[in-house]
Amino acid sequence: VDLILLIGIGAGDPDHLTLQAVKALRRTDVIVLLDKDDEPARLRRALIADHAPHARTIQIEDPPRVRGQVEQWRRQRGDLVERVVREEPGTGAFLVWGDPSLYDGHIALVEDLQTRGLSFDYEVIPGISAASALAAAHKLTLTRTGQPVTITTGRKLAEADGDALVMLDGDQAFERVTDDVEIFWGAYLSTPHELLISGRLEDVRKEISRTRAQAREQHGWMFDTYLLRRCGS
Ligand SMILES: C[S@@+](CC[C@H](N)C(=O)[O-])C[C@H]1O[C@@H](n2cnc3c(N)ncnc32)[C@H](O)[C@@H]1O
Repeated sequence: VDLILLIGIGAGDPDHLTLQAVKALRRTDVIVLLDKDDEPARLRRALIADHAPHARTIQIEDPPRVRGQVEQWRRQRGDLVERVVREEPGTGAFLVWGDPSLYDGHIALVEDLQTRGLSFDYEVIPGISAASALAAAHKLTLTRTGQPVTITTGRKLAEADGDALVMLDGDQAFERVTDDVEIFWGAYLSTPHELLISGRLEDVRKEISRTRAQAREQHGWMFDTYLLRRCGS
């Protein structure tokens, strides 16, 4: 591969694909698929069928992820991708969920490949992130008038002050927030299963927890994002 395209594919709706992404898919010869047989993998396959049916796809079996050994996992995954980059001719692409700039490892992966002495160029094509999908669904301005907002994870939420946009919350960090805040919560945004709840956190906290648990049970997976907005500021 002499060119790698990191293509942001949006957060769930096949129509999130930008024209730039569609054009990038058209000039792709080989698409590397990293994930298992989950919901995002299904969207990727549908996008390939619609926009890059000519491309070869190479499925890479993600190495098992051992807690606390992220570096080793990264290296092993890098080894597998390196082989593809060395062996395949033409333009390669990764279909990146949402936008490559938010909680995503593809740019780091490609930078790592470059330190291994492979010579290729790469381009990043932005996509609609879950943050944008959440804001649109609730008709929100994330930054209000000139205000900052912290993009953070459930695990680091306690360290944020001011408004916070929370992604990657495996364990319902909003349940432990005691400040007076409004929450704008969205799960499976931009998909047919989209769920939206908003209100004063103390009023809707239980409803969100219940809805989240039921939906996870029903669908077997959960993707949610939320904005916490301080009241009175
Ligand atoms: C590994 S991060 C990837 C984020 C992605 N790069 C983006 O720009 O949206 C995965 C997290 O994104 C959020 N997310 C992604 N898609 C979502 C969706 N359709 N609905 C709700 N949250 C979503 C969730 O917080 C999930 O835990």
